[in-house]
Amino acid sequence: MKYALEIENLCYAYPDGTRALHGITLKLKKEKKTALLGTNGSGKTTLLYHINGIIPAQEGLIKVKDCPVCKEHIRWIRQEVGLLFDNPDNQLFSTTVFGDVAFGPRNMGLGAGTVEKRVMQALQRVGIEELAGRPPYCLSLGQKKRAAIAGLLAMQPEIMVCDEPFSGLDPAVAGQFRDILDEQKKQGRTLIYSTHDVDLAYSWADEVVIMKEGQILENGTPDLLRDESLMHEACLQLPMLAELFKNSDFKPRTIEQASRILSGNEDLVKGNRSAVDWA
Ligand SMILES: Nc1ncnc2c1ncn2[C@@H]1O[C@H](COP(=O)(O)OP(=O)(O)OP(=O)(O)O)[C@@H](O)[C@H]1O
Ligand SMILES: [Mg+2]
Repeated sequence: MKYALEIENLCYAYPDGTRALHGITLKLKKEKKTALLGTNGSGKTTLLYHINGIIPAQEGLIKVKDCPVCKEHIRWIRQEVGLLFDNPDNQLFSTTVFGDVAFGPRNMGLGAGTVEKRVMQALQRVGIEELAGRPPYCLSLGQKKRAAIAGLLAMQPEIMVCDEPFSGLDPAVAGQFRDILDEQKKQGRTLIYSTHDVDLAYSWADEVVIMKEGQILENGTPDLLRDESLMHEACLQLPMLAELFKNSDFKPRTIEQASRILSGNEDLVKGNRSAVDWA
């Protein structure tokens, strides 16, 4: 089985009649990092909430590792699919940070010793073990996000679904979060995250899915984000590096790659276009 997730013709309307998803069909490969991109209101959160069954499918089918997401399998699905909410206040409701991070592992029926070990490891990994006894509502946004991600790590789910994992974080903390999620991917986990940040998706995704008005416009490798007409249709900007290098043969996806190209091409830096092949 090649796919972590298969979605077929998924449609969803909220109780007030707002139609948020229209016929989503998508397959996501295992052990990949997929960015779900789209403007505000394009349906990213609604789609992510279907993956672990928080929102039950009204029409269409979702399968996680070949198992349909439905009431009958919900316990197994919740163990396989961990969800990081965009707003950590939706995730943290215990009286202590420890209690919150322990909630998932306890629900999985793990023994007290294993739960404590997992919780402390997760808190250490996100650097907030000293906050274990604090009530979550007393924390800063960045600390709450750390506590929420610790809860995800402690569950050790095979698929990690993260809704705007980096929003509201300073660049250094966002970088630490990316390292943590990269470690998880190296351990064989599958990551799906939503974002509006085209630069992030361009540099930090194996696959991208571009949404607009509850539909998928396109999905494939991050090269798609260099397609000006597609990005225009999605009401998204080109990634900065794609814009900068759009008239050249170079296709750097990270600042490091761009700076290597520029330092190896002094003429490019000086603006001597004739000395470089601009095909
Ligand atoms: N509880 C709700 N009741 C009614 N409509 C909703 C509800 N939640 C979201 N919607 C609508 O569903 C559509 C998709 O919203 P969704 O939150 O999935 O978008 P999003 O891509 O996650 O946006 P953002 O980038 O702002 O987080 C929007 O039109 C939104 O107004
Ligand atoms: Mg959202």
